[in-house]
Amino acid sequence: MVTDNLRRVRALANHVDPARGVPAHHRPGFTVAVLGAAGGIGQPLSLLLKRTALVEHLHLYDIANVAGVAADVSHVNSDATVRGFTGPAQLGAALAGAHLVVIPAGIPRKPGMSRDDLFNVNAGIVRDLVSACAKHCPKAVLNIISNPVNSTVPIAAEVLKKQGVYDPKRLLGVTHLDVMRARVFASEALGADPNDIDVPVVGGHAGVTILPLLSQVTPAPPSGAPLTETQIEHLTERVRNGGTEVVNAKAGAGSATLSMAAAAAEFAAACLRALAGHRNVTVCAYVASDAVKSLPFFATKVRLGRSGVEHNYGLPTRGLSPFEKSELEKLVPELRASIDKGVAFAGGDEAHRRRAAQQRRAAAGTAGNSDVRASGVSQIPA
Ligand code: LMR
Repeated sequence: MVTDNLRRVRALANHVDPARGVPAHHRPGFTVAVLGAAGGIGQPLSLLLKRTALVEHLHLYDIANVAGVAADVSHVNSDATVRGFTGPAQLGAALAGAHLVVIPAGIPRKPGMSRDDLFNVNAGIVRDLVSACAKHCPKAVLNIISNPVNSTVPIAAEVLKKQGVYDPKRLLGVTHLDVMRARVFASEALGADPNDIDVPVVGGHAGVTILPLLSQVTPAPPSGAPLTETQIEHLTERVRNGGTEVVNAKAGAGSATLSMAAAAAEFAAACLRALAGHRNVTVCAYVASDAVKSLPFFATKVRLGRSGVEHNYGLPTRGLSPFEKSELEKLVPELRASIDKGVAFAGGDEAHRRRAAQQRRAAAGTAGNSDVRASGVSQIPA
């Protein structure tokens, strides 16, 4: 009797879940795995995902300290189940049945470091985690956050290729924080609400490779007057330096974790909506692309669908400002070098390895990664 009443009350309470606003009985559930869940990004990201519509099972994986995070997050009121998985022996179980895997694992930068300075540590972490994904959830959509994203996404692609499960549509580098920053900074200049405007950000996710297309702000500024070229240059610099601004403000305590988690959760939610069949889900993402000849990966606006990236909008064919056009050309060599470095690390084809080595030799002696150059802080020697 008590049990029956309890069941009825629960059924009513669950009819519309206040945490998500989605009628529980209509909710197609997805299993989402977070790899690196006990870290600075992983913890707030796990919290946000616990309250994200369409998440039915949340699998939190890390090499240590994840049991406490999982217990903590599990008390947040939504009916997503939460399980913690610790260490490589439990990685397979964490990934089994995952529809979406979000990877923030790795070390963050300290002041004076570029994202590329994280390569030596994070490249191996991403390689091993993606290799496990290939084995245990080969059909999952992967969201790669671990820096340097410009290289870790190509690494992931090579690993998936080697294991015979590469589907470019399902591999996405998360550059959404650049979009968030562009919206916030542009909205200040325009006197608009950041939630009411959109700014596509293309290229990659480091220094000069980050290119917000501020000439393409939508809707057009209410005054009808577009941003001036000077405003575009200033805002571009601010967006490019957003990560470094946080790294410097944290003064050795890491990089952006909260805004990164917010961006990654928004991005993951978009992927889940698309997997569930919602239409017109668009995001900017760093994906396999032919938007720019000679760059096999490039961030642009894409439309997501049930199987990942469904359409790549490429670059706008008109309306770019002269500054944007010239920055677009300038970013190519750095992005190309980061892609080649990733491919070579993951043991891509021999020709690619030779070309990467040649380019590294040619680049030797020139300034390092533009993350640091842009901030005026000298680069830490490797
Ligand atoms: C960011 O953009 O904040 C992240 O990529 C972290 C970093 O190192 O800047």
